[in-house]
Amino acid sequence: MTQPQVALELTGIKYSYRRNTALRGVSLQIKAGEVVAITGASGCGKSTLLHCAAGILSPHYGTVRLAGQDVTALPEAERARLRRTKVGIVLQFGQLVPDLSLLDNVALPLLLDGHERAEAQETARGWLEQVGIADEAEAVPAELSGGQTQRAAVARALVTGPSVVLADEPTGSLDSRAGQELLDVLLKSARYRGAALLIVTHDNLIAASADREIRLRDGVIQHEVVL
Ligand SMILES: Nc1ncnc2c1ncn2[C@@H]1O[C@H](COP(=O)(O)OP(=O)(O)OP(=O)(O)O)[C@@H](O)[C@H]1O
Ligand SMILES: [Mg+2]
Repeated sequence: MTQPQVALELTGIKYSYRRNTALRGVSLQIKAGEVVAITGASGCGKSTLLHCAAGILSPHYGTVRLAGQDVTALPEAERARLRRTKVGIVLQFGQLVPDLSLLDNVALPLLLDGHERAEAQETARGWLEQVGIADEAEAVPAELSGGQTQRAAVARALVTGPSVVLADEPTGSLDSRAGQELLDVLLKSARYRGAALLIVTHDNLIAASADREIRLRDGVIQHEVVL
């Protein structure tokens, strides 16, 4: 049997915000179809790690490889293209475009990738249904609850069928049942579509749904548990 390929590989990542060193050399690999939970106390560097993996931050040392390609060595325009086509990102604080309806927010990654508007909207509507907010398609982000915003952010991250999905506390504003439903949508992207899924979480139940848990402490990997 062929081994699943490594979809995301971080090697020796270091990142500092001025005087504050957030990551002190983190290396990890995630294979296609694998689910990895990143856990650890507040401030240990989880979001910084996800932002480095996503190409939102450029690490000061180390490399990020996506599907075998060294992202850190690419010019910004190509890095943005790779991010748009191969990576789905759910940020910790939603980050929807305030003036667009939910439908258009979710369709946006497809529109940026050159898809026809009607087709993009149809696909987006399907994702809004999957995450349980189809009734809110015409609402703008300011009209949504925190939980609805998180659902929309998950729909937007998955709409392009990315091979790497990065999610930062994706269910933090939902109660446990709704959180489990949204988690299931994310897990399906890995289990059925073969995406590599990295989830930052404080929630032990979410971590237990992963294949591996990587625990950070003060910007380094404290330990790794195969579940
Ligand atoms: N924009 C920033 N400017 C300066 N320091 C920052 C900035 N963002 C994060 N930090 C610092 O970097 C460290 C890691 O922050 P990070 O946001 O990665 O932690 P986290 O593990 O995601 O925390 P949480 O669980 O609270 O979301 C912390 O010490 C934090 O104070
Ligand atoms: Mg964080």
